Amino acid sequence: MAHGVTWLPTFMPVATQAAIKGLTYQQMEELGVTLILNNTYHLNLRPGMKVIQEAGGAHKFQGWRKNLLTDSGGFQLVSLSKFTKITEEGALFASPFTGEPTLLTPEESMSIQHTIGADIIMQLDDVVPSLTTGPRVEEAMWRSVRWLDRCIAQHKKTGQQHQNLFAIIQGGLNEELRRICLNEMVKRKDSVAGYAIGGLSGGEAKGPRYSMGIGFAEDLLVCIALGVDMADCVFPTRTARFGVALTRKGAVNLHSRNALDLKKYRYDMDVIEEDCPCPTCRVKTSKAFLHHNIGIETAAAHALTQHNVVFQARLMGDVRDAILKDEFPIFLKNFFKTYYDDFK
Ligand code: GUN
Ligand code: ZN
Repeated sequence: MAHGVTWLPTFMPVATQAAIKGLTYQQMEELGVTLILNNTYHLNLRPGMKVIQEAGGAHKFQGWRKNLLTDSGGFQLVSLSKFTKITEEGALFASPFTGEPTLLTPEESMSIQHTIGADIIMQLDDVVPSLTTGPRVEEAMWRSVRWLDRCIAQHKKTGQQHQNLFAIIQGGLNEELRRICLNEMVKRKDSVAGYAIGGLSGGEAKGPRYSMGIGFAEDLLVCIALGVDMADCVFPTRTARFGVALTRKGAVNLHSRNALDLKKYRYDMDVIEEDCPCPTCRVKTSKAFLHHNIGIETAAAHALTQHNVVFQARLMGDVRDAILKDEFPIFLKNFFKTYYDDFK
């Protein structure tokens, strides 16, 4: 962009009033931040566009040498004022300073953002709270599409060369509406530089994420680290019937009949896992017995299945505890160290 490279993915700190609260711009640069956000709505009210124009744009006004994005103002109008009225023309609101009725149109939002001179500018969108249902959601979605067209037209007229216009996908929590909106906005891809996902983060529920068919401890932990809440797999019960016991030091194949394992397990009077609360380990079933019985009768298969089911449950319980204690990263580190270092 015009103010340097910004690597993706990126998180943008917010400088609503042309200042990052608690930090100077020099510090922001030193911390390696390359893209921040200003709000059109706030800058337009204070200090106003006359001052920004005089300064030669918002970069110069606030002393920020890297990239800048401005939000269009619609969202702030709706979230900050109960009295904002949305019409096809634009968002009508009472100025918080003078009380005067003020209309923010897509053209006006664009032209303010052109004066500000941000590297990325956002279309004016019609935003409804994410928990809204009914026809208002669809109305707002289609209006956002029409307003995008007005923003594109205005951007072609008064936009600065370096400014990138982004579209904002609306449609509430209705997947079909969001898909329609996305399709409409992608049709305008020659006129927009990027797409934003709008209308979310309004207190909507985030449902559990279920990764199907995952059962190896190492896969479960990776999936959980990526945000997964639920998983299923035949692995622990099936592998038990084949004589495999799951342990924190890796899986142990008690059915193996290779010479080394025969020697190892025939006289192994230890339990599978000393600290395991499963019925099999609690009554101190020996590995020697499991090794002897598996594949001949069903008792060892039952015993191993009980152990493996408890192993998975205990693993998940320990992960849950670690997450609640904010110790999941160190838990992962320790788990994988034991799991692979002592793998037998
Ligand atoms: N900030 C958070 N959500 C939104 C949105 O849907 N639209 C705009 N313009 N800004 C936002
Ligand atoms: Zn056990």
